Amino acid sequence: MKQQATILSAELSGFQALAESLPQDEISPLLGEIHALVEKTARLHQGKINRYTGDTFLVVFNASRKDHTGSVNAVNAAFELKDQLDSFIKDRKMDSSLTLKLGLATGDIIMGGFGKDEKTQETIMGEALVYANRICQFAGEGQILVDEKIREACKENIEFQVLEPIPIKGGETTLPIFELIVKKRKKLDLTKSSERKITSEMVGRIREAELIEGLIKNLVTAKGTVVNIVGKAGIGKSRLLAEIKEQPLFEGVVLLQGSASSIGKNLSYHPIISIFKSWAKITEDDSQSESAEKLEKEIRRVASAKVDEIYPFIATMMGLPLTGMHKERVDGIEGEALEKLILKNLRDLIVTSVKVTPLIIVIEDMHWADSSSITMLESLFKLSGSHRVMFINILRPGYKESGDYILKYLVDNLPGDHITINISPLANTESKELIDNLLQKARLPEEINEVIIKKTEGNPFFIEEVIRSFIDEGIVEIKDNHFRVTDKIHNAKIPETINDVILSRVDKLDEKTRELLNTASVIGRNFYYKVLEEATDTIEEMDERLEYLKDVQMISESKPKEEIEYLFKHALAQQLTYDSIIQQSRKDLHLKIARSIEKVFAENIQDYYGTLAYHYTKAENKEKTIHYLILAGDESMKSGASSEASSFYKDALNQMPESRKNN
Ligand SMILES: Nc1ncnc2c1ncn2[C@@H]1O[C@H](COP(=O)(O)OP(=O)(O)OP(=O)(O)O)[C@@H](O)[C@H]1O
Ligand SMILES: [Mg+2]
Repeated sequence: MKQQATILSAELSGFQALAESLPQDEISPLLGEIHALVEKTARLHQGKINRYTGDTFLVVFNASRKDHTGSVNAVNAAFELKDQLDSFIKDRKMDSSLTLKLGLATGDIIMGGFGKDEKTQETIMGEALVYANRICQFAGEGQILVDEKIREACKENIEFQVLEPIPIKGGETTLPIFELIVKKRKKLDLTKSSERKITSEMVGRIREAELIEGLIKNLVTAKGTVVNIVGKAGIGKSRLLAEIKEQPLFEGVVLLQGSASSIGKNLSYHPIISIFKSWAKITEDDSQSESAEKLEKEIRRVASAKVDEIYPFIATMMGLPLTGMHKERVDGIEGEALEKLILKNLRDLIVTSVKVTPLIIVIEDMHWADSSSITMLESLFKLSGSHRVMFINILRPGYKESGDYILKYLVDNLPGDHITINISPLANTESKELIDNLLQKARLPEEINEVIIKKTEGNPFFIEEVIRSFIDEGIVEIKDNHFRVTDKIHNAKIPETINDVILSRVDKLDEKTRELLNTASVIGRNFYYKVLEEATDTIEEMDERLEYLKDVQMISESKPKEEIEYLFKHALAQQLTYDSIIQQSRKDLHLKIARSIEKVFAENIQDYYGTLAYHYTKAENKEKTIHYLILAGDESMKSGASSEASSFYKDALNQMPESRKNN
């Protein structure tokens, strides 16, 4: 059958010499190991080994005329093969010069149908094969050479060097060839939706990104690890991860991300539940039974043989109702025993699913995690040493009971299986680069740059906010889609701290918009449109105001329509806005919000017991606080989070008048 394909033709150079130096009985196992490595790498990039002969091999990648997948896969595989072979040699401390010579070409081939058994069916012939083999002959050690079609397909992401064309067809004609030099890093797409918005590509952080990417490669081929990304607010932790997620490396892994929330210390399993919800695509609009159905389906998909054992416990952890045999499985199991079984099944689920596809679990804002999640994660971290699961914890330092505690736990218990990356401030030159990027072609006077660089101390978020405040104040204006620095720059005051700049930006909002933002900040870092709408009955033109806040990048939209959820673009902005509200109005707002949540989420109210207890506490409404604390305690108990349950019950007791305590 005639088809398009990309052929990778490889020669393992130095193998002959190595073979001669080894005892006879070591040669064939060594070759076997190398072949296994090649096969695995090829498979990861959708390639199929076609033929081995001693020290040469062929890999075939399906290609189509419509897109470039064949070429892209082959090129990624080529880079990877080189890397893999290098680490193979290093790991074995082999002192030999084994290297690969690689030739790649895309074109027509004819495949299959030439023999009876499986092997001979794989026979291929055709132009791409001839060219790939020919190109390989011209490759030097460690060189990857490709034909023109591949260069065309990959030139966006890879730098090539044009080489002298090589003779083919007995010298009748020549074939243009190119050497692969380096992969250009793929960048996060920050296309602007509004002309006011400022964006920059990531400055610096290449070393950190590459370190993590190396660990991900290792995850794909061998095993995971625990990575902590640690740094102050606004230093660029989340951005680093967002940037890494853009790399093609991620295509072969499943990434699940959950986050702890600043009001979430009392919300049992909050980050873990958020992970499962996004994994099973459960939304706030789903009823309990719809959520349960989605969860079961997803677990069945990755662990079909064990679904009836695993599902009841995960559903229980998530507070979902069970029926029939699933209910029977969990009935009567309580407290510590329940906690243990939930954990066991969670582990089983991970271990089973990573046999097929490696998994990365990201916990954002780990410093706000609740204690049941922390206990659970501690035990899950251990899996990364022997399975293809990797954990990425993103956290600010200085939170003793959560973040710092976990860091210490890892040092004490998994010293060899974790790594902590401290994100340091940008260097002065990097800060300058960031300022320039944000302003596009406009330039600030040198002395202003210096003041900004000095005051912001390399905190990218601080730098961004200073530039945004310049735009708010007309120091930087937008003309014909371009930024322009105006004369006002000479009177510009640059705040001393990041808090000052954020607060002064909030202060300058018009009264109603500020009121809207205040209400939102009382809801939390994330807020649902529906709840905000319900809680702010007196603010007209809410949509326009939200649009404006989006435009000045104080908030962003985090979910597509239907279920609109917004979030403060940065946690600090939410905290500071919240702190700036006077005590009495804060209390009133908490009450309004609690009532709105009761109304908007009447159907899934059990998911909000903890949140409602929190808002009613802040509203100083004792009756309701006690009511929801007890319900939240019951709910935690049911879901196996006994430490949260007891803390809810304790809080409830503390709130009760003496006369009621005995009941
Ligand atoms: N290296 C960088 N280059 C360009 N922009 C950056 C860089 N690092 C961060 N930023 C920008 O600075 C802002 C703050 O970064 P980010 O949200 O990643 O901080 P963070 O460390 O996660 O803070 P927090 O602890 O509050 O979550 C973002 O708008 C981000 O895009
Ligand atoms: Mg962050």
